[in-house]
Amino acid sequence: METMFERLRRLRSSDTIRRMVRETQLSVNDLIYPVFVVEGENIKEEVPSMPGVYHFSLDRLDEEIEAVRSLHIPAIIVFGVPRHKDALGSEAYAEQGIVQRAIRQVKEQAPDLVVIADTCLCQYTDHGHCGIVEDGQVKNDPSLELLVKTAVSQARAGADVIAPSNMMDGFVYAIRHGLDEAGYEHVPIMSYAVKYASAFYGPFRDAAHSAPQFGDRKTYQMDPANRLEALREAQADIEQGADMLMVKPAMAYMDVIRELKDRFPYPLAAYNVSGEYAMIKAAAQNGWINEQEVVLELLTGLKRAGADLILTYFAKDVAKWLGGKH
Ligand code: PBG
Ligand code: ZN
Repeated sequence: METMFERLRRLRSSDTIRRMVRETQLSVNDLIYPVFVVEGENIKEEVPSMPGVYHFSLDRLDEEIEAVRSLHIPAIIVFGVPRHKDALGSEAYAEQGIVQRAIRQVKEQAPDLVVIADTCLCQYTDHGHCGIVEDGQVKNDPSLELLVKTAVSQARAGADVIAPSNMMDGFVYAIRHGLDEAGYEHVPIMSYAVKYASAFYGPFRDAAHSAPQFGDRKTYQMDPANRLEALREAQADIEQGADMLMVKPAMAYMDVIRELKDRFPYPLAAYNVSGEYAMIKAAAQNGWINEQEVVLELLTGLKRAGADLILTYFAKDVAKWLGGKH
């Protein structure tokens, strides 16, 4: 008898055959692990809304770096939580700033680990915005100068990749020129090209003490309702010299990830942000979901959507679950 319908189950019949026809592979090579560094001594303090994520003082950082290295995770992104904040975020570009010191220390300990520097001012400003504030407004062009100083100081400290997350217009152009002029023309820029004004950043702002003290970030971060604008953001950053692009957050924006991957031939990162992490952790701790299965499904979904790289607080767990396959 002639078969009148497709028998798709033929290729699902065993684990082995499923492995053979699997379209998407999640690998440890895809992972970027965020690390929070703080001033002070002997600090390893869990972030309350992010179980398993810690603040490290520099004297305790080596154990974390060793863990990342032994799991073969290729890269970290460093976030500094400074003690001193002021209107101009001066600790963001201080030669002895917390991030600059952390980068130097990590590169000494693990020269092969790719160290990515987040270039923004919000952890460093007393008002908590990502740029200079005048008359209650976040000013674009005056902020660029400080962002360039920040990026150059991070490159001087040894950062392998600069990742500007501030969402000022022209930031990639300004930073690319600043890096080139300072002799860092070889340092790539991973632009947070498409960054939405998202409630999913809540736990990060607790962790980084970076919540805005007035207003919100909606005058510079994107409106979650917009898709075409994301294409313009990506296009603009490419024209200004970005080497890699990022979409952030990840889960609610998988359509945007797919569109960017289809349109732009650049490595694409997705940031699986703090609120996404916190939701999964909370449900798992209640025994409501299987954490490992949910996380692997989510990250595989991000890759299927078109992400090449994933910034995730689950990176160490995922590397363990993948069992050294890379
Ligand atoms: C700083 C920055 C933020 C995140 C990364 N860099 C917060 C923000 O823009 O408010 C969020 C990361 C996360 O939620 O995991 N500009
Ligand atoms: Zn910021």
